[in-house]
Amino acid sequence: MTVTVCWSAKGGSGTTVVAATLALSNPAPTTLVDLDGELPSVLGLPEPVGQGIADWLAADAAPPAAVDDLVIDVDRSTGLVPRGRGAVDAESPRWPELVTWWAERGRPVIVDAGSGPPPAALFGAGTTLGLLVTRACYLSLRRAVTMAPRPDGVVLVEEPGRALRARDVEAAIGAPVIARISIDPAVARAVDAGLLAARVPRLLRREIRTVSSPPALELVR
Ligand SMILES: Nc1ncnc2c1ncn2[C@@H]1O[C@H](COP(=O)(O)OP(=O)(O)OP(=O)(O)O)[C@@H](O)[C@H]1O
Ligand SMILES: [Mg+2]
Repeated sequence: MTVTVCWSAKGGSGTTVVAATLALSNPAPTTLVDLDGELPSVLGLPEPVGQGIADWLAADAAPPAAVDDLVIDVDRSTGLVPRGRGAVDAESPRWPELVTWWAERGRPVIVDAGSGPPPAALFGAGTTLGLLVTRACYLSLRRAVTMAPRPDGVVLVEEPGRALRARDVEAAIGAPVIARISIDPAVARAVDAGLLAARVPRLLRREIRTVSSPPALELVR
């Protein structure tokens, strides 16, 4: 899948960290797209002042290739398309054109769609992998099952002491858990210090790998 969209049902689930890590740990040139506005802070970048994806969606004439002009370098293989000025229009008629172009180009795109349902048009072409990022939290799961589109897979951020298990999450959401991410103080420290882009903590880097492993991709197919 060329385009991977990450979202959560409740704030603070770990979506931005997961999206950033998926992009940073891909050795191929990868584009990270920020629909929510927090990726620069999580990546330790200065707050962007220029245009972003929100501006492109609001402009009538700009071709999809113009989105590349918005990219801010994160590291040697990762570029960030910032949110830009104002909120992203999830209903914009321009999404299909952009997704088709991303899919045709074939360069991996990771979208941080924040909390709440992602733009439905991101899934129109059938080339998008949808990932729900969630804790094993009853309230989050209750909210997630009411949201469309449904995810292809779940990234479970595992807090100690939760009563619900991965299989309960799978049963509630109706999609496989394709990665289990531990709560790790090294991750929180890296984010707070703006150092995630400089060095993804080892455990997180290892745990995120299963998202692109053949068994996971087979499960979501
Ligand atoms: N695996 C983890 N281990 C420890 N702390 C984590 C982990 N993942 C995320 N965090 C911390 O949890 C907080 C929320 O993470 P993050 O910003 O990724 O969540 P979010 O779902 O994107 O939140 P928002 O709803 O604000 O967009 C941050 O302080 C982050 O450092
Ligand atoms: Mg976020």
